[in-house]
Amino acid sequence: MCRVLEESATSKALRQTFGKFATGVAVVTARDHQRRLIGMTINSFCSISLNPALVSWCVNRAALSYMDFANCTDFTITVLAANQREIADRFARRGGNKFEGITDDGVGSPAIAGGCAVFCCDSYNRILLGDHMMLIGKVNHFEQYNREPLIFTQGELVEYVRTNESFRRASGLCAG
Ligand SMILES: Cc1cc2nc3c(=O)[nH]c(=O)nc-3n(C[C@H](O)[C@H](O)[C@H](O)COP(=O)(O)O)c2cc1C
Repeated sequence: MCRVLEESATSKALRQTFGKFATGVAVVTARDHQRRLIGMTINSFCSISLNPALVSWCVNRAALSYMDFANCTDFTITVLAANQREIADRFARRGGNKFEGITDDGVGSPAIAGGCAVFCCDSYNRILLGDHMMLIGKVNHFEQYNREPLIFTQGELVEYVRTNESFRRASGLCAG
């Protein structure tokens, strides 16, 4: 009993310590074998390679959609913008219909409108790592938009602010 408590305290501390590393926030969408939409909020997105264009993210094996993501042939990652907290919260919920109001043309998996960037990927590889599976995608299409990203750090969603730029402007260091 004590051992279990000890382990869970260690995991909590490790999770908090991981949280010192600030990340962006994304929503990954795909289709299950019946072509139903699946999606979840992630912060494990990582760019891997330019040539070929590869990205990765990790899915928790305890997620309801784990098996569906593990078997999907393609997925779409939308990097969320600073004003998309509601979307981040909605797609972080366990199960349920997360796609109300999301435009879906029925082809591939939908990007979330209003994001900072979109990566459409074909599944390239998957690696079981501890309690997660790493999914590697080959990017077949990408787009970026002129919006600031949503940030996740220390268990909180926060807005990105260009303090250096505003500081420079405020203190007159930027001529013209
Ligand atoms: C900011 C944030 C980042 C997250 N990152 C991940 C992640 O990278 N991988 C993951 O499996 N779950 C991640 N989650 C948790 C999932 O979004 C959450 O477990 C979701 O309920 C899974 O959906 P499902 O159980 O309906 O499949 C994250 C949640 C938040 C709020």
